[in-house]
Amino acid sequence: MEPSTALIRRVEINSGKEQYILTLNSEDFSALYPGMVRYTLTVTEDEQTIAVFRTNSYEYSPLVPLSAEEISRRTADEWEREIRLNPMEFVLNHQQKLQKRAVPPPVDIVVIQGSPRAHGNCSILAGWAVEAAQDLGRHAQVIYPHDMDVHSCIGCYQCYNTGSCVFNDDMGTIIDAIRSTSLLVICSPVYTNTVPGGLKLLIDRCQAYHAERLLSGGITGQRGLIFSVAGREGEENFTCITRVISAFFRNLGITPVGEILVDRADAIRDIRTIPALEHHVREKVKHYLSMKETAEKKA
Ligand SMILES: Cc1cc2nc3c(=O)[nH]c(=O)nc-3n(C[C@H](O)[C@H](O)[C@H](O)COP(=O)(O)O)c2cc1C
Repeated sequence: MEPSTALIRRVEINSGKEQYILTLNSEDFSALYPGMVRYTLTVTEDEQTIAVFRTNSYEYSPLVPLSAEEISRRTADEWEREIRLNPMEFVLNHQQKLQKRAVPPPVDIVVIQGSPRAHGNCSILAGWAVEAAQDLGRHAQVIYPHDMDVHSCIGCYQCYNTGSCVFNDDMGTIIDAIRSTSLLVICSPVYTNTVPGGLKLLIDRCQAYHAERLLSGGITGQRGLIFSVAGREGEENFTCITRVISAFFRNLGITPVGEILVDRADAIRDIRTIPALEHHVREKVKHYLSMKETAEKKA
């Protein structure tokens, strides 16, 4: 749903032969998040954007005595003063902040190996998924959250300004991969009934991708598979993990299409000894990758 937009301020600043236009808009995102308003301050020169500042009402926690509207108005005053004083300096100070990152090529299947144990049972599941994709001549990428630099989400809500996170760590690469794929497979052990910490960091930080989709629309038709291993016996060991990962998929517009849940791993030790499991995993992956192939051929 498109947010309703209102113009708060528009100022034309003439400096010699250049004309700068400063505008401050508000967008009401209440239909998506109760009370969320985003303020965007823009400066253009000859219809080219040279500076942008955004802030939203969710950034200001209950104990912070400021509001997004107040901050955006203050910044508008400040920018207007700076442009009138020295427009060239203003342009130089803001230009580099608008540079964009290069977008990598698409990946057919992204497998997130969520266990911190590099040679454990989730690693075996991830390996089978990758080999199944390679059998079809598909390009697979594996992500190991525990080996990557992923800061925890700090709930600053600044991703709802721009669609990207304030931290410049490995999450940019991870989100690029997730955005580019048609099939996302999460392989996770059950840790205290849910996902391990490293995987949870990744899940929370994907809120930036959720914000990006909300602000500029997102890819549709992506599918998600859950492969999980629990030490103990019984399906109830997967109750939380399947909920968490399904919620993660839905938050990103990814449809959860299936799961393979392997219990009793502590007793079994090596899940390669379970009859037909490898075949089951490979066939599931091939099935959803082939669906993509069919869709591509139809298109
Ligand atoms: C910190 C920790 C917490 C765990 N919590 C659970 C649990 O709540 N339920 C369960 O069934 N197994 C639990 N396990 C066992 C793992 O799910 C099991 O060993 C699994 O095979 C690990 O996957 P991996 O071989 O890919 O590392 C836990 C293991 C660890 C290390």
